[in-house]
Amino acid sequence: MTAFDEHLDAWRTWQESPWGRIRYRVVAETLARTCAALGSGRLRVLDVGGGDGADSAPLAAAGHDVTVLDRSTDLLEQAASRGLATIRADLGDLGSLGLGAFDLVLCHNVVQHLPSTPLAVEALAGAVATSGAISLMAPNPTAEVLVAAIRRADLAEATALLDAPTIRTVTFEHDVRRVEADEAIAALAGAGFGAVTQYGVRCVTDYLTDDERKGDPAFYAELEALELVLCDREPYLRTARMWQVVATRI
Ligand SMILES: C[S@@+](CC[C@H](N)C(=O)[O-])C[C@H]1O[C@@H](n2cnc3c(N)ncnc32)[C@H](O)[C@@H]1O
Repeated sequence: MTAFDEHLDAWRTWQESPWGRIRYRVVAETLARTCAALGSGRLRVLDVGGGDGADSAPLAAAGHDVTVLDRSTDLLEQAASRGLATIRADLGDLGSLGLGAFDLVLCHNVVQHLPSTPLAVEALAGAVATSGAISLMAPNPTAEVLVAAIRRADLAEATALLDAPTIRTVTFEHDVRRVEADEAIAALAGAGFGAVTQYGVRCVTDYLTDDERKGDPAFYAELEALELVLCDREPYLRTARMWQVVATRI
């Protein structure tokens, strides 16, 4: 059993929290823009490490042909209950599955759990069609430092996190690799992907220390609207809690 399967309740609680909802709402927006840029028709989408399909469900609802690949049986059952096609497999086996080519391959909040960004991107790239795109997402190491200093007022931790090779995930209670957006962009370039669009997911939410207020519907609505405005704006996207990069095969 993996760290993900052991913390499914914590994962669901996180997804339903105001900050979890904002994370999925912003990505629904960035993916809608990505799909619009890729073409007007029905796209083939593969969500690698897609878990319960929370990112893919809006794409399926928009009429795209979505498949979720993951190694967790429990999470895939939830994806299937949303009406999504599922494949139980490891990302490393992607090349041998004979799945054909996809217009869009997602890999969100997975790469930090894997040993190598270039190897992960190479495996994903093999599943992407000509002119297709990859969307990668991971926790932003810059935000780890700022959150420690601002939210927790733990200045020693903030200093230690500056050059730490790992980041602690609260939900899954284990350490993951520190992956900068620039590292992902370099790996994508190495695999033949460019024309990068970078987004910031939750530019301000995590720096507001009053978590209770985020549960107030009127305040939540304003916060979500602000996050949607900020997600593609410099310099705010640089200090967001998570980075997302979308790159097209060139
Ligand atoms: C943090 S969850 C992210 C789920 C989803 N992408 C999201 O952002 O909501 C990480 C997911 O990656 C899956 N995963 C981790 N390593 C994997 C691998 N090597 N192959 C396939 N899935 C993997 C886990 O089972 C889990 O569902």
